[in-house]
Amino acid sequence: MLKVGLTGGIGCGKSTVAGIFADLNTPVLDADQIAHRLVEKGQPALAQIQQEFGTAILNPDGSLNRQNLREKVFSDLKQKQKLESILHPLIYKTIQAELEQLVAPYCIISIPLLFETGMTHLVDRILVIDCPVETQIERVQIRDNLTIERIQSIIDNQVSRAYRKAKADDLIDNSTADYRLAEQVKKLHNLYLSLSACRD
Ligand SMILES: Nc1ncnc2c1ncn2[C@@H]1O[C@H](COP(=O)(O)OP(=O)(O)OP(=O)(O)O)[C@@H](O)[C@H]1O
Ligand SMILES: [Mg+2]
Repeated sequence: MLKVGLTGGIGCGKSTVAGIFADLNTPVLDADQIAHRLVEKGQPALAQIQQEFGTAILNPDGSLNRQNLREKVFSDLKQKQKLESILHPLIYKTIQAELEQLVAPYCIISIPLLFETGMTHLVDRILVIDCPVETQIERVQIRDNLTIERIQSIIDNQVSRAYRKAKADDLIDNSTADYRLAEQVKKLHNLYLSLSACRD
């Protein structure tokens, strides 16, 4: 099975594009969703997080206070690395396990921090969703109601737009609302089907 890693900066449109692939019946694994599931109540990773960050990181009902954790790791690199050292290996293992269950010509693995986490060797091909930084900021501001400074800081902690573009095998330009995402996705869908046929 051809494994396509889908990545891009915050707010570039990864989830939007992954949804279009899913509409074409392509299996989509999503590192963000996996991370979310890994820290649900009762999951071992949540117990590890509690151990590292203290019980104050939990809501009264024992679930993770995500906002609280986000704030804790946002301005503290050591805390951030601690959290990542718990989650990233588990995300990696979960993706591998889910891949083994899949039967399809190709699949999409959405990994927002594909380069930053060194997970590139999980995939055969890299698809980058691209738009200008100003557009990222505008879209995230509307979606998440964060300050420009906060969004800029998240962007500064990710690899640069130029780096991503240089590493891309394929690129979807999501610069403007009328860039015909579905059309771009359909073209890549056909390309991935033909590439996977060549591998058989
Ligand atoms: N072409 C577009 N035109 C207008 N708005 C868009 C377009 N593409 C995506 N958006 C909007 O921009 C926001 C960010 O898109 P999306 O959530 O798909 O990005 P993402 O890359 O998954 O972000 P994150 O890194 O935070 O997961 C969403 O509110 C989405 O609806
Ligand atoms: Mg997303």
